[in-house]
Amino acid sequence: MATELLEQIRLNGAVPRHVAVIMDGNGRWARARGKPRYEGHRAGMKAVREVIEGAVEAGVEILTLFAFSHENWQRPAREIAALMNLLERYAKKEKHELKRQGVEVHVIGEVEALPDSARASVADLIEFTRGRRTLTLILALNYGSRGELVRAARRLAQSALRGEREPAAIDEAALRAELYTAPWPDPDLLIRTSGERRLSNFLLWQMAYTELYVTPVLWPDFTRQDLFAAILDYQRRERRFGKVTV
Ligand code: FPP
Repeated sequence: MATELLEQIRLNGAVPRHVAVIMDGNGRWARARGKPRYEGHRAGMKAVREVIEGAVEAGVEILTLFAFSHENWQRPAREIAALMNLLERYAKKEKHELKRQGVEVHVIGEVEALPDSARASVADLIEFTRGRRTLTLILALNYGSRGELVRAARRLAQSALRGEREPAAIDEAALRAELYTAPWPDPDLLIRTSGERRLSNFLLWQMAYTELYVTPVLWPDFTRQDLFAAILDYQRRERRFGKVTV
């Protein structure tokens, strides 16, 4: 089944270059099984592997995963510790496999505020996978889009104060250049699992023209087949970027 979908994607041609994912529904998946929320996050790691492998197979160049938001600090301390622990274990355990697959890892967000051991493992993962060229994997860690925009505004104000630029010369390109995502093109496709139809403070600037795809599948159940279905749906759409097509 997955092979057939992949074949159809190839026949259709243009694959979204950059896919972003809001991995939602881990808690509900666990609750439905009478398990603690942590088990849902743990099961979600399998889906992380699936989506990375699927992205490589489909020829996606950039994959951004929303792994931990600013708002997630408001969760119970035990759940936060479990998420940090998972992240650390993921970075240590998967680094060889990611490198073998040709995945180069980057992060966006206030990574400095993560616990030391998680931060160190992620830094090692970034270093270890540097130079791979098949897929760029961007992990959004302690990320919030409004915070990112405030940070960009502050940096622009500081450079204006230093006399490096006139306020009137601050344009869209200047602001874009101060975002965490400056090195990469904006997402072409956003996938959100578990049926929620919200952006949840994720890449607000970057997703001005992104195609949105919502699936009821809970994140731990998400497979490469679901990724391929989302890409096929994207390929059927006509992107106009505010213009008309004649
Ligand atoms: C949302 O489900 C998911 C999260 C807040 C965390 C996502 C993290 C992972 C899948 C593991 C870490 C990822 C990497 C890349 C190392 P939820 O808890 O909000 O679910 P609910 O809405 O059903 O409660």
